[in-house]
Amino acid sequence: MKKKLNKIAKDTNQFLRKFLSKQKNSKLILAMNYGLFPGGKKIRSKILIDIGSLLSIDYKSLIKIGAAVECIHAYSLIHDDLPCMDDDKIRRGKPSTHIKFGESTAVLAGNSLLTMAFEILSSPNLKLSEKIKINIIKKLSESSGHLGIAGGQYLDLSYEKKKISRNKIIEMEIKKTGKLFSFCCAAPAIIKKRNRKEIKFFENIGSNIGLLFQIADDLIDFKGDSKKAGKKTGKDQKKGKATLLSLIGYSNAIKYCNKIILEVNKSLEKYGSNSKNIKETLYYILNRDK
Ligand code: IPE
Ligand code: IPE
Ligand code: MG
Ligand code: MG
Ligand code: MG
Repeated sequence: MKKKLNKIAKDTNQFLRKFLSKQKNSKLILAMNYGLFPGGKKIRSKILIDIGSLLSIDYKSLIKIGAAVECIHAYSLIHDDLPCMDDDKIRRGKPSTHIKFGESTAVLAGNSLLTMAFEILSSPNLKLSEKIKINIIKKLSESSGHLGIAGGQYLDLSYEKKKISRNKIIEMEIKKTGKLFSFCCAAPAIIKKRNRKEIKFFENIGSNIGLLFQIADDLIDFKGDSKKAGKKTGKDQKKGKATLLSLIGYSNAIKYCNKIILEVNKSLEKYGSNSKNIKETLYYILNRDK
């Protein structure tokens, strides 16, 4: 699993470096590069590739679409760490982008990474029909805006130090994190021109995987080692973050994660042995230490 992730990370970074090197230079590129490289685990790209291979989509196209997703993810982390949000000084084992470059530069570099994702998807470099590209861009925009990452981040912050119901917490975690995973699961079905119901089926799987991913992230914050995680741990409780973990407790949270894994595996059973990649990714997500 680690080997596969490393290969995906290498191929994605290679694509992104090349894409950036073809752009005209600007003062923001330095901060964009800093937030993007060497980058994180590339787990969203791995999910995209796992589902993409179930539907026989070529690896190169998946890497490019994954690169766009990783730009949006990097933007969301840069903004997540700002003083007006989680106020975190360490990210991916180094000073957060705003610590290194200042807040205004971090905001603008984040914005530029967000828009660069759509530049990647609309570039002729990605060999898909224009109709499919538009559908992919539409789905990714929806996953990033007020009904996705941004909306979820808003809820996350507004729920701090409040007693929030289980359903509301789940909704928030699915928006801030799950929607981007939904996109990764739906994109292959969109490329294959599957009908609405099937796209919804994959989106739903993505929401569940994203929820699993966020609960596992909350577990890392609770019991993880900050050196290994590459970011400060033990912060959620201090900030009074409303998480499923804080509501239902450690062992129930693990049970909940295992239930999600079983459900996702069951719904992909029809793909037979092809679905073993996604299985290993799910166990990795739950058991990782970073
Ligand atoms: C961290 O995401 C933020 C969450 C959505 C929980 P990752 O754990 O995927 O971060 P990197 O990309 O590996 O650094
Ligand atoms: C972040 O969740 C979700 C995003 C969409 C960025 P967290 O705030 O828990 O992520 P970390 O723990 O700082 O990586
Ligand atoms: Mg946050
Ligand atoms: Mg945070
Ligand atoms: Mg966290």
